[in-house]
Amino acid sequence: MLLDNFTGQSLSNFEEPTLLFDNGMHSVFWLGYPEETAFRTNTYLLRDKEEFIVVDPGSSENFEFIKKRIHQITNVSEVCAIILCHQDPDVASSLPHWLDIKPDLKVITSHRTEVLLPHYSKKEMNTVIISDDFRFSFSSGNRLRFVEAPFLHFPGAFATYDPVSKFLFSGDVFAALDYDWKLVIDDFESHAMKMDLFHKDYMASNKAAKGFAEKCEPLKINAILPQHGSIIPESFVKNGLDYLKELQCGTDLIYPD
Ligand SMILES: [Fe+2]
Ligand SMILES: [Fe+2]
Repeated sequence: MLLDNFTGQSLSNFEEPTLLFDNGMHSVFWLGYPEETAFRTNTYLLRDKEEFIVVDPGSSENFEFIKKRIHQITNVSEVCAIILCHQDPDVASSLPHWLDIKPDLKVITSHRTEVLLPHYSKKEMNTVIISDDFRFSFSSGNRLRFVEAPFLHFPGAFATYDPVSKFLFSGDVFAALDYDWKLVIDDFESHAMKMDLFHKDYMASNKAAKGFAEKCEPLKINAILPQHGSIIPESFVKNGLDYLKELQCGTDLIYPD
């Protein structure tokens, strides 16, 4: 898999999109963003034949950079949908720019996120509401699945599963904070400490984390692609799910028994 080529690497070239998966008909790109902060964000582009979807489109501040990266792959107006796993500004504040470019853009999100989006734009939006049972179909017949992740950290948060690449786009779940960033991790133990820095404070409880991990377990996952920090490759996916099952966070720590 292409993604394996980046194991343990901190990229220095942000001048072009990074191809993580490609089978000719279907591709996944990492687009960036090159922040010098521990809270750096990731934006991904999914291509299915001629259809393009942006996952975790990012902030208003990052929009021009992301637009430039997409332009190296396709015309930005070819993007048919964006996926907003929740409404935080680092995920969704670029929304007004997207609607300016493409007023009929599909905004794939949860109902709890949808009600907050008018605070970014009063324009009418073509929202597509996800659930665990919902499938988003490309014209090719390929379909995206969604895994609701209640209270991780937002009540209406969710992850997106692409059955072709077998990538799980996990949003803030599996996020990590670090300065020593690598695109794809090569060691889980040290990475778990970087995930602790985020999860202990942001995630609601062990019950929420364990419940989500158990819903993901039946999926064949070749990589976990979070919105912050590094990608977790197949060799550490089980470690990642076990990490969530054992995680003590949020109210577990604030109000111990
Ligand atoms: Fe968030
Ligand atoms: Fe985030």
